Amino acid sequence: MEPGNRARVEAWLRYGDDLDLGPYYRDRVALARAVDANADAGSEASEPVHHAMAAAAGQGEAVPSARVLPLSATSLAAGVPARSSPAISPASEPSLFETSDRIEGDTLGLIRETIGDCTRCKLHKGRTNIVFGVGSVKAQLVFVGEGPGRDEDIKGEPFVGRAGKLLTQMIEAMGLRREDVYICNVVKCRPPENRLPEKDEITTCSPFLFRQIDVIRPKVICCLGSCASQTLLQTTQGISRFRGEWFDFRGSKLIATYHPAYLLRNPNAKGEVWKDLQKVMAVLGLQPKRK
Ligand code: URA
Repeated sequence: MEPGNRARVEAWLRYGDDLDLGPYYRDRVALARAVDANADAGSEASEPVHHAMAAAAGQGEAVPSARVLPLSATSLAAGVPARSSPAISPASEPSLFETSDRIEGDTLGLIRETIGDCTRCKLHKGRTNIVFGVGSVKAQLVFVGEGPGRDEDIKGEPFVGRAGKLLTQMIEAMGLRREDVYICNVVKCRPPENRLPEKDEITTCSPFLFRQIDVIRPKVICCLGSCASQTLLQTTQGISRFRGEWFDFRGSKLIATYHPAYLLRNPNAKGEVWKDLQKVMAVLGLQPKRK
């Protein structure tokens, strides 16, 4: 492709990416590099998050408001929004179908042991550490991200880089500490060049995520970004279609919000995210942290 055209296509893809329009399996190595370079140039991470977020929410900043339809996970999977379905299924207990594949007596230790020194997918070739998850097994709130980045790969812990620092600020703004919640990712090994995890990698690794969630049985799952929400809700719809809506996931309430890395690139979206986090806080009976 001609360099001029290539640049235009990349700019369009980046724009779509910023709006979270793309499906998670698109190969975006070049994009990820450009986005990283962009993120490195920003300085929002040091901003006191909840105040910035609350301010953005209160002032009704020019955030393009998502057209939110009341979707059910089933209708999402089929790609058809169900306009009249309740956002959360009335039954708080998981259905028979959902309980059938729970592993009796499973523990986080057993899951980690099963993963072992994993070579099940090609991501193992470039990893330094498997990034399993961190936090409390008794957590009422689980955050699910996409996959480890460079810092996480080196440390073996999720969300410890720039986006991670922002996530920690978000958690603290909710009146919690990192150790009160559980944080994990869809894939446990770093995708090269921070590209999105590919479909086969997600298919291979996500059963371990489902087991982690089954063991913890949180009240709320907060999906960070498209990859996590599309994986758990089994949809290819863009996150802006259903962000901030409640779903049921195997007996837990699930809400999707924008990824902290997206917020680093688009600080205007902090208000939207803060609104989503306030919904989570209402369900968990939390008060925002006082200054
Ligand atoms: N982004 C993610 O999705 N997960 C991490 O652990 C770090 C950054």
